[in-house]
Amino acid sequence: MCWRVSVFALCSMLVWGSRARGEADDALQRCFCQVTGNLDDCICDVETIDRFNNHKLFPKLQKLVESDYFRYYKVNLKKPCPFWNDTSHCGVRDCAVKPCSSDEVPGFKSPGYKYTEEANHLDEHLYECEKEKRLSAVDESLSEEALKAMLKWNQHDDSADNFCELDDEDSPDAEYVDLLKNPERYTGYKGEDTWRIWNSIYEENCFKPKAVPKPLNPFIPTRGENDGKVFYNWLEGLCVEKRAFYRLISGLHASINVHLSAKYLLKETWMDKIWGHNITEFQKRFDAALTQEEGPKRLKNLYFIYLIELRAISKVLPFFERSSFLLYTGNHSKDIENKQLLLDVLHDANNFPLHFDEHSLFSGDKREADKLKEDLREHFRNISRIMDCVGCFKCRLWGKLQTQGLGTALKILFSEKQIENLTDSSQSSGFHLKRQEIVALFNAFARISTSVNELETFRKLLQNIQDP
Ligand SMILES: *[C@@H]1O[C@H](CO)[C@@H](O)[C@H](O)[C@H]1NC(C)=O
Ligand SMILES: *[C@@H]1O[C@H](CO)[C@@H](O)[C@H](O)[C@H]1NC(C)=O
Ligand SMILES: *[C@@H]1O[C@H](CO)[C@@H](O)[C@H](O)[C@H]1NC(C)=O
Ligand SMILES: *[C@@H]1O[C@H](CO)[C@@H](O)[C@H](O)[C@H]1NC(C)=O
Ligand SMILES: *[C@@H]1O[C@H](CO)[C@@H](O)[C@H](O)[C@H]1NC(C)=O
Repeated sequence: MCWRVSVFALCSMLVWGSRARGEADDALQRCFCQVTGNLDDCICDVETIDRFNNHKLFPKLQKLVESDYFRYYKVNLKKPCPFWNDTSHCGVRDCAVKPCSSDEVPGFKSPGYKYTEEANHLDEHLYECEKEKRLSAVDESLSEEALKAMLKWNQHDDSADNFCELDDEDSPDAEYVDLLKNPERYTGYKGEDTWRIWNSIYEENCFKPKAVPKPLNPFIPTRGENDGKVFYNWLEGLCVEKRAFYRLISGLHASINVHLSAKYLLKETWMDKIWGHNITEFQKRFDAALTQEEGPKRLKNLYFIYLIELRAISKVLPFFERSSFLLYTGNHSKDIENKQLLLDVLHDANNFPLHFDEHSLFSGDKREADKLKEDLREHFRNISRIMDCVGCFKCRLWGKLQTQGLGTALKILFSEKQIENLTDSSQSSGFHLKRQEIVALFNAFARISTSVNELETFRKLLQNIQDP
């Protein structure tokens, strides 16, 4: 019974790797030692996921999300943060205009001043701010043609209720964004701001009581060696649903960090920018020694979210298989081609032999299960609102897309009966996905899939460190 184990154990999953190998100290081992091998008494193992993803699914998904249907995502990036006032200085709307503008720095331009140490520091700060602003900006340009097409696409959509907070699509602030023009990558957005976001998610939205310290919050002085232990004891004591929730969030967080380390701004000249893998950055986030043993757990949670989203994608096949379903973009032959590709991906997902089984979720008393489901939904909605507080626009774009994608995956997993009920001719009664959800679902999964694929590269890079 693979799946039952998987909710409980996916993260303690590959723990057998912690059985120390001789070279447990080297760089590769410190990130990946626990991320290998079998899932207790079941056939699930990380290597199978790696093979399945990297060689089979990943290339097809990449092709799919580059198609016109999937590259344009409608999103409202201008919603105000409902929880706190924006105080960050870089990355936000006014970055470099307000706190970073030179006229607020007295004497900044006066000759001589430039050479003092303080000036150098300010200079550097200004430069960092400018750079971050530039890197985090969202390119909203769309071709005339694309804009016209979007208008037509809308007529092919209808709506239904949702698991997570959807942006009001009719709001004048909601705009189409070309995802290919805005790849998720390093933006310079970091420090206290990002910690605030993730902190409020972990501290206030993951069912965690204040008394249980989350390990590794850099802004809370460490409360001793036992922080991690207390936390993980608490986590193990949780019901499986809440634990799964935590692991999904942690997996999403890990995935985002893998991207930022894989698409790091390595070099910038006036002519071009070079993005690539930064091993130091990766180690900072995932090396057990540098993260109080947290890193490998995060990587395991990445596999956890992979399995959940993969499961959702395999479950939703009947919805997309209906002959009435179109990936409408107006180019009939292209649309048919893309639907074929989509179904191909879905069939692959369906044939994955080691699926997570969502039946272990909400399997208890019906009334309690419904309450729990409502609870999770509430927490999840809140997290999607927190994404409006992300200061850096590009991060906000990808944060919103990936939470919506995950929300859509959960919606699918909890709508199994309605999906099974779909017939080829049924006008999606009972279950429906809007275009925005479909785009988010597949792009979000493509991100997780990319992360899993990137891990292979990081494994190789780390190996090379050891034998120079
Ligand atoms: C944000 O700032 C405004 C005006 O400065 C204030 O009225 C409001 O209460 C603040 N909101 C929060 C959530 O702190
Ligand atoms: C939603 O998130 C905010 C910010 O973290 C938090 O203060 C609030 O308690 C959360 N609300 C719910 C219902 O979880
Ligand atoms: C890699 O990231 C680290 C921070 O983790 C940074 O100090 C270093 O300069 C980066 N390396 C390159 C080549 O950009
Ligand atoms: C439709 O897509 C096909 C590629 O599948 C392309 O060859 C053709 O030019 C497109 N037609 C239009 C009208 O854009
Ligand atoms: C499935 O379809 C049947 C017959 O059309 C209907 O009676 C039933 O309520 C549907 N079940 C769900 C969960 O929608």
